Amino acid sequence: MRKPVIAGNWKMYKTVGESVDTALALKPLVANANHCEVIIAPVFTSLKVVADRLEGSNVRVSGQNCSTEVEEGAHTGEVAAFMLRDAGASYVIVGHSERRQFYSETDAMVRRKCQAAISAGLTVIMCVGETLDQRELGNAKNVVRGQLNGGLSGLTALDLDRIIVAYEPVWAIGTGRTATPEQAQEMHAFIRRVFAEGHTATAAEALRILYGGSVKPENISGLMVQGDIDGALVGGASLKAESFAKIVNYKDE
Ligand code: 13P
Repeated sequence: MRKPVIAGNWKMYKTVGESVDTALALKPLVANANHCEVIIAPVFTSLKVVADRLEGSNVRVSGQNCSTEVEEGAHTGEVAAFMLRDAGASYVIVGHSERRQFYSETDAMVRRKCQAAISAGLTVIMCVGETLDQRELGNAKNVVRGQLNGGLSGLTALDLDRIIVAYEPVWAIGTGRTATPEQAQEMHAFIRRVFAEGHTATAAEALRILYGGSVKPENISGLMVQGDIDGALVGGASLKAESFAKIVNYKDE
């Protein structure tokens, strides 16, 4: 059985104090959530203190990005995967559409980041997803296939245990327009097939595939009943402890 993952991507929101307050408010609200992995991804500056304050709880911490470079060096403004690990992260989000769109991140860069993260002992949450234009032109699956193969080629069977894929259609991010559970399920099943072609059926069966894009307490249950949806990557609704906890505790809602 694949253990579900509910991850909150805080994007570029919250000061250190606000991050700690939200994390501490979240902790008791999800303390009994043994059915899933609970993850929050604060900004870099908050990561260490949030990880420290959550130690011993069931909430894990993720980076939102990492450098393509494995070793420390002269790369102004970059943060290496091993530094995230050192600061207390267990996961890192790689290839988010906002990074692909606004910071020119390519599949080749995503691949290097995945490799750097895995070598640092992090689990990668690799994001894929098409834009509205690409969907309307009938290219959604080709785009997602290209991103999957581009980001994950060259990984070994052991590395694959450290990969989680997040399907985030760009048209559903921050728009309030979530994909229907059926649209999401169709793409998730496709992602699992592509993964099986590129790797093995066993690895594909074990792969957790998260849905992201306007996930809220009101729509999480309908998504989670789909056979190939193994969790959610939540933006806006993860910024408040109460609403994120409702998403984590979707089984009780
Ligand atoms: P929203 O949940 O705000 O649509 O954001 C989704 C997202 O980009 C998570 O990474």
